[in-house]
Amino acid sequence: MKKLVLSLAALTLSFVALGQGNNYAQNYQKFEGLAMTPPMGWNSWNKFACNVDEKLIRETADAMVSSGMKAAGYTYINIDDCWHGDRDSLGFIQADPKRFPSGIKALADYVHSKGLKLGIYSDAGSQTCGGRPGSRGYEFQDAQMYAQWGVDYLKYDWCNTEGLKAEGAYKTITAALRKAGRPMVLSICEWGTDKPWEWGPAVGHLWRTTGDIYNCFDCVKDHGTWKSWGVMQILDQQEGLRQYAGPGQWNDPDMLEVGNGMAVNEDRAHFTMWSMLAAPLIAGNDLRQMSKETLAILTDREVLAINQDKLGIQGLKYSAKDSLETWLKPLDGGKWAVAFLNRAKVPQKVSFDWKKTPITDALSKRELNANKTDYKIRNVWAKKSQGTTKKAFEATVPAHDVVLVVLAE
Ligand code: GLA
Repeated sequence: MKKLVLSLAALTLSFVALGQGNNYAQNYQKFEGLAMTPPMGWNSWNKFACNVDEKLIRETADAMVSSGMKAAGYTYINIDDCWHGDRDSLGFIQADPKRFPSGIKALADYVHSKGLKLGIYSDAGSQTCGGRPGSRGYEFQDAQMYAQWGVDYLKYDWCNTEGLKAEGAYKTITAALRKAGRPMVLSICEWGTDKPWEWGPAVGHLWRTTGDIYNCFDCVKDHGTWKSWGVMQILDQQEGLRQYAGPGQWNDPDMLEVGNGMAVNEDRAHFTMWSMLAAPLIAGNDLRQMSKETLAILTDREVLAINQDKLGIQGLKYSAKDSLETWLKPLDGGKWAVAFLNRAKVPQKVSFDWKKTPITDALSKRELNANKTDYKIRNVWAKKSQGTTKKAFEATVPAHDVVLVVLAE
């Protein structure tokens, strides 16, 4: 009995030691319970690149609220590259005093006062992609600073990482965040090079699947030593990844270019496909001055409901013929989202005979069979009901656009 009491006491002591932050025992698991649906927010990079400062971030937080984006579900205000100043004499990272004179803590307080959350950016290597100080060798110090500042989300990039192993490097920052103790979403930005979908789910909440997005519908931008990708090119690179997505873990086909200069129909198609993919919806435009069309796309409640569906099943490409693709996404409550995507530069007719096309999705074990169930059809962007699946669905899809329907019993 005495022995039992003693060993119980020893056990309790070792738990206490762990709780107090024993430096020999690291926790390499992400914070659970965050990002149970795809994260929604804004990030500075796509529109502003290195031109970030506290005024922009505050004004963006204001605009997120006043535009109605917050009410639609957007939460994160994420500062991307180039916020950094120098490290102090002990190696702790400081914000650029010219761009962020009030410091990141004051900014986080401001963002929180609006009911929003703040994200920040670093890099696993010696320098960020924009040449600012990277976290290599400073992981635990950086995580401490982010936690002290009240940061809620970290995007962690992969430039200048010669000699590092991706999984190990991301595990290290996760352990550092754990040690710092403030729950943060970890956005793995490793561009899909080392198959982050295989190891990412334990370590982070989302992982980039590709190189950077480029603001065009269907093109590749060659920068010499690297390329960035149009919306269609990114879409094509999602093939084979849907099994890795689910609540708390998302494939990230990069941030949105909606409102950054593509035609409205192209923005609509881009936003629709990201919603079908259960992708994180991180707006990348100037929220302080967006057109009515841009705002309407970004805040469409029915499309957001498809993206944010609680089952978290990534959509699948069912068929592709003559630049016309049919995508399906199983939704909660026996519903389905179906997107007809026209990649061509001319309008195309769709005729989809549900009864002749029973579909089984092996991954979700869901069946769309109009011979067994009569579904009502809602045309989402047209905002109207469009009959049932008793009859074939007929529509014309404009060039570089989508027709999106939701089927419900
Ligand atoms: C990389 C990332 C981008 C952006 C830039 C910043 O290219 O993939 O999303 O963060 O770095 O320099």
